[in-house]
Amino acid sequence: MLRIVLFLLLFSTYVIYSAVVYSKGTENAVSVDRIEAGKINHGKKLYQQYNCTACHQIYGLGGYLGPELTTAQSDPNRGENFMKALLKGGGPRMPNFHFTDDEINAVISYLKYVDATAVTYKKPTPK
Ligand code: HEC
Repeated sequence: MLRIVLFLLLFSTYVIYSAVVYSKGTENAVSVDRIEAGKINHGKKLYQQYNCTACHQIYGLGGYLGPELTTAQSDPNRGENFMKALLKGGGPRMPNFHFTDDEINAVISYLKYVDATAVTYKKPTPK
């Protein structure tokens, strides 16, 4: 009798746990409208086309000459205007790609999206 009760208890726990994991785990953390989604895709294509990943990491993957960009948007020392300035004029080592303002905005939209979805990537802020 005890075995049956234990089995039913474990089995139902497994079923409930699976249901929660499979239905909750894949939710989109950030929702964007169609216009923003278009910009994000444009930015992502530029990021691939100009091979930014040769020097920059996103989610820890990429080259190490340039800084990691996953959380550049929400970093208090960097943020949007700082990134725009780097994208517009280049830096001491960052090449100037002569992007148009539209292209810069697209890349920023993409990096903003990456930052917003990097929920588990962000380190907890020290107290
Ligand atoms: C040749 C290597 C290289 C390539 C390719 C490159 N970057 Fe950079 N990037 C850098 C370096 C190095 C910096 C830091 C500033 C400096 O030293 O010039 C930087 C800085 C930046 C910054 C400012 C953020 C920060 O934390 O400093 C942004 C945003 C950025 N790059 C985006 C891009 C994008 C988007 C591309 C592709 C279109 C790209 N980079 C391609 C090397 C590169």
